[in-house]
Amino acid sequence: MQSAQPSRLSAAARGSFATALGALVATIGSAVGLGNIWKFPYLVGNNGGAAFIILYLVCTLLVGLPVMIAEIMMGRKARANAIQTMRALSPSARQPWWLIGAAGALAAFLIMAFYTEVAGWVFAYVFKAISGAILSTDPQVTSQAFTDLVTSPFQSLLWQWIVLAVISLIIVNGVSKGIEATTKRLIPLLLVMLIIIAVRSLTLPGASQGLAFLFTPDFSKITGAAVLTAMGLAFFKLSIGMGTMITYGSYWKEDQNIPTGTARVMLADLSVSVLAGLAVFPAVFAFGFEPAAGPSLLFITIPSVFASMPFGGVFMTLFFILTAFAATGAMLSLLEVPIAYMNERFAISRVKATLITTGLLAVVGAPAALSSSTLSGVKLFGMNFFDLYDFASSNLLLPIGGLFIAIFVGWFWGRKNVFEALTNSGVLKNEGVVRAFWVIVRFVTPVLVILVLLNGLGIIGG
Ligand code: PFF
Repeated sequence: MQSAQPSRLSAAARGSFATALGALVATIGSAVGLGNIWKFPYLVGNNGGAAFIILYLVCTLLVGLPVMIAEIMMGRKARANAIQTMRALSPSARQPWWLIGAAGALAAFLIMAFYTEVAGWVFAYVFKAISGAILSTDPQVTSQAFTDLVTSPFQSLLWQWIVLAVISLIIVNGVSKGIEATTKRLIPLLLVMLIIIAVRSLTLPGASQGLAFLFTPDFSKITGAAVLTAMGLAFFKLSIGMGTMITYGSYWKEDQNIPTGTARVMLADLSVSVLAGLAVFPAVFAFGFEPAAGPSLLFITIPSVFASMPFGGVFMTLFFILTAFAATGAMLSLLEVPIAYMNERFAISRVKATLITTGLLAVVGAPAALSSSTLSGVKLFGMNFFDLYDFASSNLLLPIGGLFIAIFVGWFWGRKNVFEALTNSGVLKNEGVVRAFWVIVRFVTPVLVILVLLNGLGIIGG
């Protein structure tokens, strides 16, 4: 094995999560985010409900989970940021596997650029919910409030910067005192609030139509593009394909059980998505709204839905606070990718690395923030910057990154390394699980990703 490019930080100076539980919760904090509460409901709404959920589940099990296991395992083995992990584990110096880490860093920036914008709207909506500004049963009114927000260049940029400032203030405190401590508080609160809202939504008269929408599959809605979207969502949801999980894995404990731990993260994340679906759809149908409202479902339809129920203002405030919490945990993990790299590779302090990263993000993020106002006329490949960043990252960069990670682990890193890493050098008696992983990551995951990518981009099939 080639030795790692010299890291200027000694192993002892590297941060890590303090406890195995903390590592798990922080990793759940990365997975759970706007993907569950903003993306999942509108994509399910746009793509025909339950049939899309089934596709998403298949992608999660056969592609998402194996890639997550691979990433956490590699990070823990190399104990380094994503780029240096790929370099360190590469069997030969001539194979440029570090490029996967570098492409991941690019994906992290693209995601952060639009993610911080949506998070900015959510932060703004917490205040609007409290003030009652969006408490109207008329979607025209809520739609106007949303339009006013996104078409104002000043407000769009301001909220994005507020978000960047908040996560910077958390992350400069380090892996354990910043990320772990924050997610440990936010995730349980988020769950409690989400359960309260789901129960409220499910007990509304007429809720059953929403349940039918979520759980009765209609496969006629499924196209190649929908399958690509389901797979893109699986990658985005589990924060994989770009080195985030490699970075977090590098902070996992040596004796942690990776297959079980990652399965727990996946299940927790799935539960939050289903709960978000149960919070949203029964209420949407109960009050006669349209489920397929697209990306604006969260910001236009949902406020009207809440306004239709007794004490709606309270539920709406809770809902946007929990969404802000979810977004925060996810953004911390995105930011950690470049910060860990700069910190370890160039011995730049966390504070400086955070300032550099957020500074860059303010620049890359501005086109996304301004894509409904100043730059609304600018289209690349038929999309504005916001949609382009989203499409290019979820549907292209993450699947391609994940494909190479699966190929690397399955075909280059070697069976012995994989078995050692996943059984904790023989301590865990989970050979059956590891064997199944080995077959899936070598054959199933890469083939599926290639087929879905080619089909979704219209290169093969109909
Ligand atoms: N998993 C997060 C969500 O679903 O909102 C988004 C995300 C976070 C994607 C971190 C990628 C990432 F590295």
